[in-house]
Amino acid sequence: MKQICVVGVGYVGLVTAACFADLGNRVIALDVNEEKVKGLQKGIMPIFEPGLKEIVERNVNSKRLTFSTSYPEALKGTEFAFIGVGTPSGVDGEADLQYVEASARAIAENMSAPLIIINKSTVPVGTGDWVADIVQKHQPHSIPFWVVSCPEFLREGSAIADFMQPHRTVLGSMDRDAAEKVAQLHLPLRAPIVITDLRTAEMIKYASNAFLATKISFINEIATICEALGADVKEVAVGMGYDARIGKQFLDAGLGYGGSCFPKDVKALAYMAAEKGRHPQLLNAVMEINDDQRLKAINILKEMTGDLKGKTIGLLGLSFKPNTDDMRDAPAITIAQRLQAEGATVRAYDPVSMEVARPLMPGVEMKDDPYSMAEGCDALMIITEWNEFKQLDRPRLRQLMHKPVIFDGRNIYEPDDMAKIGFVYRGVGRGYAFSR
Ligand code: NAD
Ligand code: UGA
Repeated sequence: MKQICVVGVGYVGLVTAACFADLGNRVIALDVNEEKVKGLQKGIMPIFEPGLKEIVERNVNSKRLTFSTSYPEALKGTEFAFIGVGTPSGVDGEADLQYVEASARAIAENMSAPLIIINKSTVPVGTGDWVADIVQKHQPHSIPFWVVSCPEFLREGSAIADFMQPHRTVLGSMDRDAAEKVAQLHLPLRAPIVITDLRTAEMIKYASNAFLATKISFINEIATICEALGADVKEVAVGMGYDARIGKQFLDAGLGYGGSCFPKDVKALAYMAAEKGRHPQLLNAVMEINDDQRLKAINILKEMTGDLKGKTIGLLGLSFKPNTDDMRDAPAITIAQRLQAEGATVRAYDPVSMEVARPLMPGVEMKDDPYSMAEGCDALMIITEWNEFKQLDRPRLRQLMHKPVIFDGRNIYEPDDMAKIGFVYRGVGRGYAFSR
């Protein structure tokens, strides 16, 4: 059993804390947000993440997991301090490191014994060295410490499983012993462990996210071409995915990537390149294609409905992906704004994210279920592929709607089935529906 402190109880911090506690360690999770910490102490989760409440409760009950707002308390007797605070986009696309800086400083001021500081946040290459400088500068007296980069690769919606069964653990440090100690903590996860230097570990995280984002923009470009040529991108992706060199995953064409990570991380990597005088051509194209997907959705809808002025449009799904209530950079926000700017009235239904979405989407009426939302609508747009949308009573939806028009931004339905039910239907990149 090791004693661990985790700084930040967001998606990454809370999952890290709960999972390390579940692996038998004693974990104190710290956050400056008192409301979140008080809520967690009462068993209230700050986020919707499947399985999180159960694992937190189990480890709180066994006294392996506690929450605090006090750095001295959280650092007392600990050998490892993980940093999992946010690194949002700054004004020019660079990563904003103010929370990392504040936590490094607070760790320095409050550590009382030798400490391995492990950075889990996604941070620009060179941040580990910068954190070491901050800690050195702010320690009241010199206590040995080591900085290790341990980027996190979990996905929202499957965060616990991703943490517990990672594809790999990446550790970067200038000190092999410190990296080995952190590797020991990860041994129960039984994943390959890559030990490298700090900067390379930081780069592995950006390169991984940028590669996945590139796959998505690639398939979205293919979708656009499929539409023009009368091919079906869903079948193209299946046919490509059997090639192990390509792989099946991240080939779903749709509204493009959203969320708190791909948009900000691709931007931050492009910024890092440009800052060093390099021209990130591919990354720029990936971002351009991604932005276009949301606009294209509106254009396709207009082709289907005509002028949007005075029309009522219903959005099925709001969160940036299913199984989360995260609305950060969710396509739903941009799409709703666009529809409103064109004079449409917008309604929405999402199984879990409506409360989070409400303040971000002024003027959008939130409905309690898909059917009351569809009643009287001139068109529906499928924004998030929640499982419950796959089995909707579509003949009933059709009857309730003013006009039976559906734009499926996630390709969850089959064009032929929809035509049989009597819908005017379009997905993304499913050109064959028009050519047959
Ligand atoms: P988040 O916004 O959900 O949580 C960050 C938490 O840090 C908040 O609770 C905030 O109050 C707290 N915090 C801020 N400053 C603090 C300080 N000085 N001391 C203590 N706590 C502080 O963020 P997140 O989504 O968990 O992301 C964290 C980092 O992990 C980011 O760099 C992100 O890119 C990376 N990441 C996120 C995911 C994901 O799925 N969300 C996956 C992999 C990596
Ligand atoms: C992503 C990565 O998958 C994680 O490995 C990484 O740790 C995380 O970012 C991060 O750094 O924060 P996440 O954003 O939670 O995880 O979700 P994904 O499942 O990757 O989806 C991201 C976006 O891409 C979503 O908007 C999703 O709808 C979109 N997407 C995904 C597609 O449009 N097509 C696909 O084929 C896959």
